Amino acid sequence: MTDLSQVKGINARQIKLLQENGIGSAEALAMSPFSVVAEIKGLGEATAKKLIWNARNGLGMTEFSPASEINENVEYITTGSAALDGIFQGGIHTGKLTEVFGPFKSGKTNLSHTLSVTTQLPKEKGGVEGAVIYIDTENTFSKNKITRIAKRFELNPNEVLSHIFQARIYSSDHQSQMITKAEAFCKNRNVRLIVVDSLMALLRAEYMGIGMLAKRQGVLNGMIHALSRIAETYNVAVLLTNQVATKMMGMFAADDAIGGNIVAHGCHFRIMFKTKGFSSNSSLKRKAIIVDAPDLPPNECEFYITGAGIADTEEISIPKSSSDVFDVTEFYEQGDDALEVEENKEVEGSDGNGGKSMNINLTDVKGIGKGTAKQLNDQGILTIQDLLVQSPEDLAEKISGISSKKVREWQRNAKILI
Ligand SMILES: Nc1ncnc2c1ncn2[C@@H]1O[C@H](COP(=O)(O)OP(=O)(O)OP(=O)(O)O)[C@@H](O)[C@H]1O
Ligand SMILES: [Mg+2]
Repeated sequence: MTDLSQVKGINARQIKLLQENGIGSAEALAMSPFSVVAEIKGLGEATAKKLIWNARNGLGMTEFSPASEINENVEYITTGSAALDGIFQGGIHTGKLTEVFGPFKSGKTNLSHTLSVTTQLPKEKGGVEGAVIYIDTENTFSKNKITRIAKRFELNPNEVLSHIFQARIYSSDHQSQMITKAEAFCKNRNVRLIVVDSLMALLRAEYMGIGMLAKRQGVLNGMIHALSRIAETYNVAVLLTNQVATKMMGMFAADDAIGGNIVAHGCHFRIMFKTKGFSSNSSLKRKAIIVDAPDLPPNECEFYITGAGIADTEEISIPKSSSDVFDVTEFYEQGDDALEVEENKEVEGSDGNGGKSMNINLTDVKGIGKGTAKQLNDQGILTIQDLLVQSPEDLAEKISGISSKKVREWQRNAKILI
């Protein structure tokens, strides 16, 4: 990386202004759109143009050179599933933006968590030994999930957590601000993956209606440009998750990512996750389809969501250390909801016990009356098995007047029945 002070004709005040706006190196300046730099208060159009052009000249970006000299330097980060890595031809690519879009429960947050761990693996195990920035707009980041994934990959969970720099985001402007801030972090902390889960949630909520569309796309454009520049400058992989909306294509209705052309064209890889064909309540099998990638053939694969991230099989073994020997009840008290789920899954096994649980009514579970059962049904929870795979925290948020402790209690009582 080249220091901003190396740019011809730049002064200390201009360096400070650029740094305050997330442009921390000559490379970042050279790749910034003119309009972004010109808008920085105190710089002005003429200075912005001079500095950008000088930065490009200094970096040799204004020469044509033989294609044989292009240094692509792409590295790959494993997704946790060999099948999914396969359709990417190696895993998520560094230096590029990858968009994963899909409906509710399709596995986007699980992929975000898995990659936050695998990025830290050594090269021979599918990682790049880098740190991670996690921009969490939906409050779904889970330390417990990271801990389990770290154990699966035989990494120290505390160390893994200490290399994930997470920010909970409350507004689209906050999101823009943290994307700008991410640049300095990438420079100083060997960040190799930036996750934005999810890209559009806040924008969609804040800029509602057709009248706000142009404004929303403007903000989005700024974010995508900043992320592309960071990805390229620091050879960082960027994972953007996105929601879908149903669109009419002539006579047909199809799910498509939101955000329009700005996201579609800004991302190098676009992958769709699907629950369709598999009931997302009773199966954790998912489908991934390459929708758009300049260098990849059309392809699709199946993968699973597990308690320890994305995988090729429904069950994966997590190596246990002596410190993992625990009393199950004590564990419930600690509130590790998802480990509870794993315990439950072990009880169910794959020998048909899960089928047995399907035949028991929710109202048979101690503490669940008719009214509560209806509220659970409204959330798509129809069977005991559905109840057991829920995260207590998430479910408590969706059902008014119910705490995560209460949900845990139901899950304990439900387990007794099977
Ligand atoms: N510990 C666990 N073990 C097995 N499956 C789990 C576990 N935790 C969550 N799941 C499953 O993962 C799915 C949710 O996946 P995820 O949160 O990645 O979806 P998403 O695509 O991010 O959805 P959204 O659009 O709501 O954010 C649910 O079907 C849930 O049952
Ligand atoms: Mg999610």
